[in-house]
Amino acid sequence: MKIAILTGGGDCPGLNAVIRGIVKAKRNEDEVIGFKRGWEGALNNDYVSLTEDDVEGIHLLGGTILGTSRTNPFSIKDGEKRILENFEKDKLDALIAIGGDDTLSVATKFCGLGLKIVGVPKTIDNDVSNTDYTFGFHTAVNVGADAIDRLQSTAKSHGRIMLVELMGRDAGWITLEAGLAAGAHLILIPEFPRTIDEIIEILVKRMKAKGYAVVAVAEGFKPTDLESAIGDKSTIDPFGHIKLGGIAHYLSEVIEERTGYETRSVVLGHLLRGGTPTAFDRILGTRYGVEAMKLVQKEDFGRMVALSGNNIISIPIEYGVTTKKLVPFEYYKLAEMFFG
Ligand code: F6P
Repeated sequence: MKIAILTGGGDCPGLNAVIRGIVKAKRNEDEVIGFKRGWEGALNNDYVSLTEDDVEGIHLLGGTILGTSRTNPFSIKDGEKRILENFEKDKLDALIAIGGDDTLSVATKFCGLGLKIVGVPKTIDNDVSNTDYTFGFHTAVNVGADAIDRLQSTAKSHGRIMLVELMGRDAGWITLEAGLAAGAHLILIPEFPRTIDEIIEILVKRMKAKGYAVVAVAEGFKPTDLESAIGDKSTIDPFGHIKLGGIAHYLSEVIEERTGYETRSVVLGHLLRGGTPTAFDRILGTRYGVEAMKLVQKEDFGRMVALSGNNIISIPIEYGVTTKKLVPFEYYKLAEMFFG
């Protein structure tokens, strides 16, 4: 079989482990190629061949050797036609699409148009449905927890409120878990909005009792008082998302002004996505890659691999993308026990 791979959307640690897993699981008669920069490579028929030598040791590396982009073929004139033609031209038997909800929604549409596709769920935000974890998330939580640990001592020395902003557009998984692991005194995530008054009440109480505070806030958190999340609304990606960022800075100014406590903010942003994957993410990526290739070889298309408990299973791709996996109320309540 001739099989193409692509990696689309934001990069995350573990992508190379998936690519290596796919190539390692190929049979002698299989040929694997990698489209460069996600759907952009599929549109322009820009690809490299991938042999065992090409993937030697790459699971140790962050990012993706294929490059990535947020290209949406359905928002480009003739995009869909060009990809279908390239599949014919290249005589491809299958595509393994590695990506989050945007990449996988495009994959679902192409499945409907007759392409033979297997999906691998990827997102640092961990919000793809019907899979327990996506790779990259574990690494991001570790990086986030380490940063929050470090902020604890400087916040305490100066008697300050310190806000740290972490990635998480619609779902606050990274912020919740990094904050919980590193003992943040307040965690603010998109799923559970609060008013500025509530935030200030919690922080004033904490400052009176302990004299310092660390707050973990997800980039997509929107105080109930605001109309929309904070970000650059003039920069919209091909999937319609605005560029988020700035909530920690916004809150720090409001908090300092209203409480009089010295307040600082830090944005972790893309630091969470960079660098080498944890062992967990290397292994999850490897298992996903191998299982995705097995699905292709069984010609079980229109499906994506997923983690259920400790088992890799497969589900229809659309089950991963029709809704987002958000932090449940009970989990946030547990974290709340440690606020203040
Ligand atoms: O989609 C994952 C994500 O990391 C979000 O958490 C974040 O808002 C976005 O990507 C950032 O995207 P970009 O790398 O395009 O700035």
